[in-house]
Amino acid sequence: MSKGYDDLDRLSGAEPRYGFSSVLHARLSRRLLLKGASMLPLLALPLGSCATTGRGAGSLRFTAITAATDDAVRVPQGYRATVLYAWGDPVGHPAGAPGFKPDAGNTADEQALQAGMHHDGIHYFPLPHGSDNSGHGLLVMNHEYTDDGLLHPDGFANWSAEKVRKAQNAHGASVIEVAWVDSAWRVVRPSRHARRITAATPIRIAGPAAGSEYMRTAADPAGMQVLGTLNNCAHGHTPWGTYLTCEENWNAYFANTGTLTGDHQRNGITAKGRGYRWHEVDARFDAGKHPNEPNRFGWVVEFDPYDPDSVPVKRTTLGRFSHEGAWTVVARDGRLVVYMGDDRAFEYIYKFVSRDRVNASDRAANRDLLDQGTLCVARFHEDGRGEWVPLLFGKGRLTASGGFSDQADVLVRTRAAADAVGATRMDRPEWIAVHPHTHEVYCTLTNNVSRGTPRIPGLNAANPRPGNVFGHIIRWREAGNDPAAPAFKWDIFALAGDPQHTEPQHHGNVRGDPFGSPDGLWFDESGLLWIQTDVSTSTLNKGHYERLGNNQMLCADIRTGEVRRFLTGPRGCEVTGVIMTPDARTMFVNIQHPGESPRERSDPRNPKAVSAWPDGPSGGQPRSGTVVIRRDDGGVIGT
Ligand code: FEO
Ligand code: CA
Ligand code: CA
Repeated sequence: MSKGYDDLDRLSGAEPRYGFSSVLHARLSRRLLLKGASMLPLLALPLGSCATTGRGAGSLRFTAITAATDDAVRVPQGYRATVLYAWGDPVGHPAGAPGFKPDAGNTADEQALQAGMHHDGIHYFPLPHGSDNSGHGLLVMNHEYTDDGLLHPDGFANWSAEKVRKAQNAHGASVIEVAWVDSAWRVVRPSRHARRITAATPIRIAGPAAGSEYMRTAADPAGMQVLGTLNNCAHGHTPWGTYLTCEENWNAYFANTGTLTGDHQRNGITAKGRGYRWHEVDARFDAGKHPNEPNRFGWVVEFDPYDPDSVPVKRTTLGRFSHEGAWTVVARDGRLVVYMGDDRAFEYIYKFVSRDRVNASDRAANRDLLDQGTLCVARFHEDGRGEWVPLLFGKGRLTASGGFSDQADVLVRTRAAADAVGATRMDRPEWIAVHPHTHEVYCTLTNNVSRGTPRIPGLNAANPRPGNVFGHIIRWREAGNDPAAPAFKWDIFALAGDPQHTEPQHHGNVRGDPFGSPDGLWFDESGLLWIQTDVSTSTLNKGHYERLGNNQMLCADIRTGEVRRFLTGPRGCEVTGVIMTPDARTMFVNIQHPGESPRERSDPRNPKAVSAWPDGPSGGQPRSGTVVIRRDDGGVIGT
């Protein structure tokens, strides 16, 4: 047991304390906070005695790169990054598709068979299923959203149903077949596996909310099938080889020209919408006309990449909110645990525990495993303890007198249910990573500049900084080291920041290369923690972020707390999505929205002036893309 967890044990008998000063003293040493740049991460290294199996504990062996503001992907000396699959590239469907036409020349139908926009979460599935093939597999990735200024030759001018159809076809997910051929990774075209799932793909609804009154619409009176998945941010995968794509800011696609319901307001649907303008030509996105249509988004969607004909399924048991991702681990007794964050300021962290055990020998037996189980939400107590509170109709305040009708209602209005049980409001939960050997869990809390302002939720021990512009990484260990446990102990792994700032809350306590707004987070098999940043375009390289450069990816050795910068992205991008082949000799990283500027959505000319990645100045628009990273000597990445 580490020193850090010994501290937690010592604190665990204390009564919860509240208020600003107790917050700092309970979970964060003020002395350390004030020392700023020179301090070590708060709880460096609980893991040394626990890891590891497989390739053994990884340590950082690459040379860190400096922060950059140029329009390129930079990686350490001895590494190479090449673009594999960018927006508009054909997916390789047997029906074929033309290549990307610069200046938004592709039609809506062509877009449906090409890479969507804004790559995000990504996973590598070896071929065949069940193998650990590191030279042939399926890459599955999300396409989170669209920038219509880039998608159409004249942006939002002459707005039409056809433009909305192209935008819908640029959302969702890609399945591409990839192979290592002649010393390079290539997309296999054609491929019987190649597939696009879009905002128009028929998707089955399953779990307790399926068929309920909340899911029925004029187009689907049974409430069992919805067209499409939206704002697919991060992801997850199951032990039986399916992909989980998660609907994050789905509310942005709706407007309500009538009367906003309480649930519409709780989820951020507005009278005018948030700029996508789908409701103007596609009435199902007018929540005033179709008030239940929004209930059909905000879910985790499971599909089988190995079967191109499989119907994706919205798993309502996993709750409805702004799902960042869904990360799985098998509990001691064989049940599946899924960790999930709700990425909105002051929202929550969730855990699902399946009712049934994963069947490791019969893939088909797990087909509906995600339809039965218990969704819980996290309470982080001030003293370093935590608990998972079940969201079950009939328990506590989740009753008729508390305003809930049944379990379907609890799941459709997950945020309201979490409010009712007094869960802890967090600083925008993004990715969650489970250590492959110890099962310790890490979660990025990307930022929350509103934390600590009057009349909204104040500081708490798990979210201890006012005006949290840099974000932090929290971690927890489940009781008995069992992922299914109802309680845990937590601490803060790192406060992001820039040590050159004089204000204590902006120093951070990162040992090594500073960063801010952590978002993507992933453990490789050796236990190295990869951190990706998403500093918003309005903040990038300005103000508090002036010295941190473009968005980037770093790598942490959690045993020492050291963080080294591994990759910097092109201008205006976010770095999000990372996975390796099983042999750890190839890494795939997604670069999202290169060239983004605050004005982009309304000014189609602007992005090109910011970035020409990846095609260069003579190419067309900047394009999101998947990058392959290899060592020149073919060695294991990172170590
Ligand atoms: Fe799509 Fe919370 O990032
Ligand atoms: Ca994200
Ligand atoms: Ca983000």
